[in-house]
Amino acid sequence: MKLINFKWEQLILSLGFLLLIIGCQSLYPTINPDAKSLKVATDPTFVPFEFQKADGKLEGFDIDLMNAIAKVAGFAVQFESLPFDGMISTLQAKRVDAAISGITITAERRKTIAFSRPYFKAGLAIAVREDNQNIKDFNSLKGKKIAVQIGSTGADFAKTIPNAKISTFNSGPEFFQDLLNGNVDAVVSDAFATLYAIKNGKLQGIRVVADLLTEEYYGIATPKDSPHLDEINRGIATLLSNGTYKQIYQKWFNAEPPQLPDS
Ligand code: ARG
Repeated sequence: MKLINFKWEQLILSLGFLLLIIGCQSLYPTINPDAKSLKVATDPTFVPFEFQKADGKLEGFDIDLMNAIAKVAGFAVQFESLPFDGMISTLQAKRVDAAISGITITAERRKTIAFSRPYFKAGLAIAVREDNQNIKDFNSLKGKKIAVQIGSTGADFAKTIPNAKISTFNSGPEFFQDLLNGNVDAVVSDAFATLYAIKNGKLQGIRVVADLLTEEYYGIATPKDSPHLDEINRGIATLLSNGTYKQIYQKWFNAEPPQLPDS
C-alpha cells in the first residue's frame, strides 16, 4: 500500500516538474531580456495564408512560416491584425517590426518599405460567377465591372483594363460577396487564395477563368533599414534548405513547392 502511494506522489511530482518546464519555456522570451519579440502585422482575411479560426486563433501558411522563421532565428512573434490597406503606412511609421500577409514584392512598394527574399511564388486570377460564359481572359474584361481589394496588386492590375469600372473592398470575403450578389462581373485577386477557397467550398458559385495572369512573389515586409531583415532572410534560407519550407507548403497546398529566386 505504501509503495503504491509513493508511486502516485512521484508521478504527481514529475508532472509538476514537467508543467514547470513547459511554463518556463513559454515565458522564456518575456523573462529573458536578450530574447527579442517582433511585432508582426497581418490581415487575417486571406485563406489559406492568414485567417482566423472560430476561437480567434490565427492560422495559415504565412503564420506557420513566420513562426518557423522565429524559431530558427531565436525570436518570439507577436501577431497584430491590421487591414491590408494600412499595412505599408504602419510599416513606414515603424509601428510594427514586420508584416506577413501575402504581400507581393513590387518596385513601387520597395520605394517606401523593405522586403525579405521571396518566400512564395504567386500570381493573379480572374474569377467570375459560375454561369458567366463571356469572360474568359484579360481582353474580355474590357468595360466590365470588376471588384478588387483596396491597395492590392489586383487593384493595380484592374486599373490597366480599358474602361473597366472598379469597385474596391477591404477584404476577400467582401469582394467575392459582391460578385455573388451580381453587382460586378469579375474579381481580380491572388490566384492561390481564390483557388484554395473554391476548392474548400468557401466560394460556392464562383469559378476561376484565368489564373496566374502575372508572376508575383510574396515577401515579408519590414520598415526600411530594419535591423531584423537579415535574420528573417537567414531564417527563410534555413527553412528552404532543411525541408521545413517544403513541409509547410505541402501542408497547405498538397503540392511540391516551386523554385524560388534568391532575391
Ligand atoms: N498579393 C496581393 C498584394 O500584395 C494581395 C495580398 C492580400 N493579403 C491579405 N492578407 N489580404 O497586393
